[in-house]
Amino acid sequence: MISGCRVIFEDLRESGVDVVPLLPQKKVVHDSREDTEPPASVPVAETLAEIQQELNDCQRCGLCRERTQVVFGVGNPQARLVLVGEAPGFQEDKKGEPFVGEAGQLLDRILFAMKLRREDVYICNVIKCRPPKNRDPEKAEITSCEAFLKRQLAAIAPEMILSLGRFATQTLLQSSAPIGKLRGHWQSYEGIPLMPTFHPAYLLRNPAGKYQVWEDVKQVMHRLQEGTG
Ligand code: URA
Ligand code: URA
Repeated sequence: MISGCRVIFEDLRESGVDVVPLLPQKKVVHDSREDTEPPASVPVAETLAEIQQELNDCQRCGLCRERTQVVFGVGNPQARLVLVGEAPGFQEDKKGEPFVGEAGQLLDRILFAMKLRREDVYICNVIKCRPPKNRDPEKAEITSCEAFLKRQLAAIAPEMILSLGRFATQTLLQSSAPIGKLRGHWQSYEGIPLMPTFHPAYLLRNPAGKYQVWEDVKQVMHRLQEGTG
């Protein structure tokens, strides 16, 4: 059996692995609201589609001037695991989907090593529009966009979050601690276990960090398998 770490390092076409055991999906609880109206006092959670609609033609910050489109997020609205990145890059801005460029291809390999497909998880970013020349997001841009990330996470209510890199981790944890200190240790976002790890774009520049990312995602895999999110 090929090891997960090798999958992260090597091209999958050469790995010969084609059978991917899937994690069980989150149990679907029968929704009694289909039969009876909820009492007026029970708040009904908003859906991802409703949140996305509010971002159509968003002009809350200056990134709207140079973006091609808002990159909202992709994947399973009932995902047990949500991955949060920083902001769309060139390819993501063109396609309207997060993590489809070079860093995204590495992320796909990390997911494959975790025995997950993109459609099993939900993937989004802190910032929904591409910063010009992929510069770091500014504080004001994070402030105007992060409420939408929080609402996405509330709508999905995942069992676990994997935060990719410094921006996602520091934003979700409201922390200024360096990613090198936070990664590999379980944290908590609104009561949801959150594992910080390095960003795949960082791994493209520093491949040695893949060993640490593999250690981090193994902790996520174990927790998913135990169902103790
Ligand atoms: N980097 C990110 O943080 N997000 C993307 O969607 C692509 C690259
Ligand atoms: N710096 C970042 O912003 N992210 C990483 O993952 C590593 C270093």
